Amino acid sequence: MQSAGKLMKVFITRRIPQEGMKILSAAGVRCEVSQWDSDEPVPRAELLKGIQGAHGLLCLLSDKVDAEVLEAAGPNLKVISTLSVGFDHLAIDEIKKRGIRVGYTPDVLTDATAELTVALLLATARRLPEGVEEVKNGGWSSWKPLWLCGYGLSGSTVGIIGLGRIGMAIAQRLMPFGVKRLLYSGRTAKPHAAEVNGEFVPLDTLVSESDFIVVSCSLTPETQGMCDKSFFSKMKPTAVFINTSRGAVVNQEHLYEALSSGQIAAAGLDVTTPEPLPTNHRLLTLKNCVVLPHIGSATYSTRGVMSALAARNLLGGLQGTDMPSELTL
Ligand code: NDP
Ligand code: DGY
Repeated sequence: MQSAGKLMKVFITRRIPQEGMKILSAAGVRCEVSQWDSDEPVPRAELLKGIQGAHGLLCLLSDKVDAEVLEAAGPNLKVISTLSVGFDHLAIDEIKKRGIRVGYTPDVLTDATAELTVALLLATARRLPEGVEEVKNGGWSSWKPLWLCGYGLSGSTVGIIGLGRIGMAIAQRLMPFGVKRLLYSGRTAKPHAAEVNGEFVPLDTLVSESDFIVVSCSLTPETQGMCDKSFFSKMKPTAVFINTSRGAVVNQEHLYEALSSGQIAAAGLDVTTPEPLPTNHRLLTLKNCVVLPHIGSATYSTRGVMSALAARNLLGGLQGTDMPSELTL
């Protein structure tokens, strides 16, 4: 990267899709880019070293950007661009205090994440992983009237916790399956809910009346641990629980108890605490729990567009111009 102007230092915490790298290298900004050149997360010590003196940081949701990282960066840091829509890994108060701008990637991953959520819901409710396993292990002896029966969407009540961009896209995809009632909860009623006949209800009502509960809210101090013992105890014993937001919204010990005791029918999780979930975790011993490795936005095109957007956000922050998707702090 050439041309006049101050030399900007940028640290990128991972290999990212080439769409973003191309934009950075074609930009007319004098930029010295250093990168953790790996598909695995940057070790904390390398992050603290790499960010020293940087003007810009391009990070991932697995990088915890807290006061220690900001201190290590020093006063040059103008912009943090995260390759995600979720920003719970960023210490927003500390960032705001230092006048640092934040870019993120809303909208571009909404369709992919909603699609994956529907796939996970169907796979969990109709017991697809169990069925696939039975075919492989010889458990398939014959067609049997009640074998591997699950729950269908037709005529059901679906409850969506957090009818934001992704929650709404999930609702739009589920309604054509013949869903009878669409409930949602959150801090405020949403005018756009009318498009899916969404009923804004208190969380308790959603939990006790839904056949399928889908969590698609952001992780905040308020939503952390929201799905706990008391939450699961109010669910119908035939209800299916799906989480594609963040793992920490769920108390996993309480979820395990609810699933193993038959208090609820099944759960599908794309997000867990921690990530990766240890392979000896109790949740992985349950047939009625489907766990995916955080792949909501994982289509080639979506990740390419996210990468390009994160690069443009970074450049806007470095140049002091508009960012295509700046988080309002
Ligand atoms: P939005 O900001 O559009 O939606 C977030 C929703 O969370 C809002 O509707 C908001 O409702 C709701 N919310 C906030 N606080 C509460 C609360 N206390 N109770 C219930 N709902 C609440 O974000 P997106 O839809 O774009 O993304 C949502 C989240 O999905 C991200 O933050 C991220 O964590 C996760 N995600 C996961 C992916 C994956 O790969 N699994 C991919 C992409 C995103 P209100 O406006 O009323 O406050
Ligand atoms: C996000 O963007 O927050 C997701 O979790 C990954 O795409």
